[in-house]
Amino acid sequence: MSDLKPIEIVRALDKYIIGQDKAKKSVSIALRNRWRRRQVGEELRDEIAPKNIILIGPTGVGKTEIARRLARLADSPFFKVEASKFTEVGYVGRDVESMIRDLTQLTVNELRRAEADAVKEKAQKIAEERILDLLLPKTLEPKTIKSEEETLDDSGNTVSEADKNSTREKLRIMLLKGKLDERYVDLDVSDKSMPVVEIFSSAGMEEMGVNMKDMLGNLLPKNTKRRKVKVPEAMEMVAQEEAQGLIDMDKVVKKAIEKVEQSGIIFLDEIDKVASKAGGQGPDVSREGVQRDLLPIVEGCAVTTKYGPVKTDHILFIASGAFHACKPSDLIPELQGRFPIRVGLDSLGAKEFVRILVEPKNALILQYTELLATEDIEIVFKENAISEIARVAEDVNNRTENIGARRLHTLMECLLEDILFKAPDLENKHVVIDKKYVDDKFSDIRKDEDLSRFIL
Ligand SMILES: Nc1ncnc2c1ncn2[C@@H]1O[C@H](COP(=O)(O)OP(=O)(O)OP(=O)(O)O)[C@@H](O)[C@H]1O
Ligand SMILES: [Mg+2]
Repeated sequence: MSDLKPIEIVRALDKYIIGQDKAKKSVSIALRNRWRRRQVGEELRDEIAPKNIILIGPTGVGKTEIARRLARLADSPFFKVEASKFTEVGYVGRDVESMIRDLTQLTVNELRRAEADAVKEKAQKIAEERILDLLLPKTLEPKTIKSEEETLDDSGNTVSEADKNSTREKLRIMLLKGKLDERYVDLDVSDKSMPVVEIFSSAGMEEMGVNMKDMLGNLLPKNTKRRKVKVPEAMEMVAQEEAQGLIDMDKVVKKAIEKVEQSGIIFLDEIDKVASKAGGQGPDVSREGVQRDLLPIVEGCAVTTKYGPVKTDHILFIASGAFHACKPSDLIPELQGRFPIRVGLDSLGAKEFVRILVEPKNALILQYTELLATEDIEIVFKENAISEIARVAEDVNNRTENIGARRLHTLMECLLEDILFKAPDLENKHVVIDKKYVDDKFSDIRKDEDLSRFIL
């Protein structure tokens, strides 16, 4: 668990997100509170619930980005889900608990991968031995070894135990040097595809949190087929199989559940889409239903997953929405009460856009510079070009739809289209983008509002 101080969290977020100080402050406090809770005496620890947050702000101003970066910073299991998804046709009634299952599955997968990495070396060593066994069966008569491995053993007529060992070692060296890469070995490959099972695992089963394939897969006898495979491929397959065997799945699952329960973050996007003005009818029924379904999860309950029950008491929920047509107070009161912290995010203007273009660690200008550098092209953006792009972005946002910082993506792509297209064959490897270049590119499009609606 991360023990970053709030100010350190904000600083870390600053590296990727420009402005939005209030939101950064709120999430940093929420994260620190988790750490604090862990230090509190056991008796009270379980009583302290996370203070869930609603981020309120127009599209493209960094809501998702803040939550995502926060999760990465804290090394927390993170899952983003659109609240509106639960009201869609065909999804009605899809139980909202699935988000906890998904989060758990994600975490299990991640930890299993980490564990596989940890045992990789060991698995590779075992694989090496097994391949050597295949290349040089222990029971093999010394004579056959001789005839098969003439290059290795061309000395005496009889091969003693010691010779056999040295043959193995020589073979090992050849194996590691890749000299046997063209050789084939017979390998028993387990055949896991079981078409019959597919019929069961259709929609609906997932809701029960049971995976039929997993269940039956362990019951049915393993189908193995003998195949001829090249040595490197065989090494890879055997190493993978061994790694799976070395992983202690019980431990992985236990760790994953603990991690989800203690530091999971669920990002509930578009929460405003399930809010409805009082007195509404029709689709509102299902919206309110979703809110009611959310209640126990946010409040804290045990969700059954295929890995066992997962308690949601200490999972942090960060909801987000534009709240154009409604307010947080249009959510049902019970749900409002479970999201005590509300923060507004500011809409972005030219001033922020200039900074967003250059300052973040993953800044767009940097991305394009690096992309073009792979074609040996050095592209330089003059300062006046950057402020012009930012100005155009603000202007287009005002005149058409305000899509926040996402506008910069469309603008940059449009601006650099020609260069990106011709890059491999450009004579002049040094490209300078100045204000004039930006003006030339955008002036025609901007004159025509309909055109800019489509292109920018
Ligand atoms: N304040 C910001 N600083 C840096 N980059 C930003 C900022 N706001 C948005 N961006 C960039 O804009 C893109 C969209 O941002 P994000 O996904 O966070 O939007 P959002 O607020 O979640 O919008 P929506 O309501 O549509 O989901 C991201 O690629 C992000 O990098
Ligand atoms: Mg978003």
